[in-house]
Amino acid sequence: MQLENTNIILGITGGIAAYKTPDLVRKLVAAGASVRVVMTASAKEFVSPLALQAVSGHPVSDDLLDKDAEAAMGHIELARWADKLLIAPTTANFMAKVAYGLADDLLSTLCLATSAPIIMAPAMNQQMWKAKATQHNLSVLLERNIRCLGPAQGEQACGDVGMGRMLEPQEIADLLVQATCEKMLVGKRITITAGPTREEIDPVRYLSNHSSGKMGYALAIAAQELGAMVTLVSGPVNLPAPAKIKTITVGSAQQMHDAVMQSTQNCDIFIGCAAVADYRVQHKTLQKIKKSDSELTLTFVKNPDILSDVAHLANPPFTLGFAAETQNLKEYALGKLQRKKLNMIAANDVSDNTIGFNSEQNALSVFWNNGETKLETADKQLLARQLMQLVTQRFLKDTND
Ligand code: C5P
Repeated sequence: MQLENTNIILGITGGIAAYKTPDLVRKLVAAGASVRVVMTASAKEFVSPLALQAVSGHPVSDDLLDKDAEAAMGHIELARWADKLLIAPTTANFMAKVAYGLADDLLSTLCLATSAPIIMAPAMNQQMWKAKATQHNLSVLLERNIRCLGPAQGEQACGDVGMGRMLEPQEIADLLVQATCEKMLVGKRITITAGPTREEIDPVRYLSNHSSGKMGYALAIAAQELGAMVTLVSGPVNLPAPAKIKTITVGSAQQMHDAVMQSTQNCDIFIGCAAVADYRVQHKTLQKIKKSDSELTLTFVKNPDILSDVAHLANPPFTLGFAAETQNLKEYALGKLQRKKLNMIAANDVSDNTIGFNSEQNALSVFWNNGETKLETADKQLLARQLMQLVTQRFLKDTND
């Protein structure tokens, strides 16, 4: 499990988003963490300490001056126990207290007493978030390497719409896992294909598909966040080249194949995320095809299967493929896993056209030899991070076995 052997203090301050924290505790515990909850006095107005005790399996700490609590696990001991101090939700008031180093309750004292990384998930009214004082405090906190997760944009409990919502518990848990996996791919080379290919028919026409390239680009960024050296081989897309990522732009499947074969010569992980055209026209005409007969017949020949060719190399990298299916998802995905000799396959159901191809969101079922998991519908950037964590774990496991 991703947070195994990780001790997390979850600090809860007094915002309405506190009602989501029992769920957050459950997500952290499910990821393997040991969680102890510390609440401010106002947090207890929004969520019951008893609920948090039940889900964390430990009594909730809330008082710096409570003799009994101090005898059980004193604040210094608690500060030392923590591998991470996560504060969710973090109110504007609490950000200010930490920025100024106040220590007038247990949670703010822990912020000074711990050497563990502090991570905040701010939540407040959008105007309070925009306020100059809050933004100034934020810059002070970031300068001290305190990490802020969110806030997110959206509808707020007060009826306003804007920046200030706390990230959802699953997003917070995922980002925490991400921070734990951070830089696990330092020194590793990854090649990722993205986008569609364009198979030319004549000088003005081509055959292509609706792939936007968003998932492949998001994966490239997620891999870079983990410290990998990334080469992105991209078909024609309307996305800016990601900063500091070597991006090779190609047109046809054959060009993509050539670029990939070059860059996978000494590569550790290959991710085939491109929607590669299976066929190309046998003879591209040098002149524009003129309208003449009522029918036009073109002959197509098969393109090389880039992913399969990489996976069948004598010394192949760890390979992840994608399978877009409209039915029998698992059966077809497992078929591809075996036939193409992949280490892992991520399948998405493209019969649901609200996700997947050309949309902002996606959901994936991921399969590997004797294992599978589901990544629920989420923004492609978040999903890419989750998928890269999974790839990293399986890759490191395979290389250590
Ligand atoms: O067989 P199918 O096209 O469904 O497999 C999809 C997977 O194979 C994707 O990962 C895609 O990037 C890869 N692929 C490829 N070269 C092809 C066709 C598909 O790399 N010619």
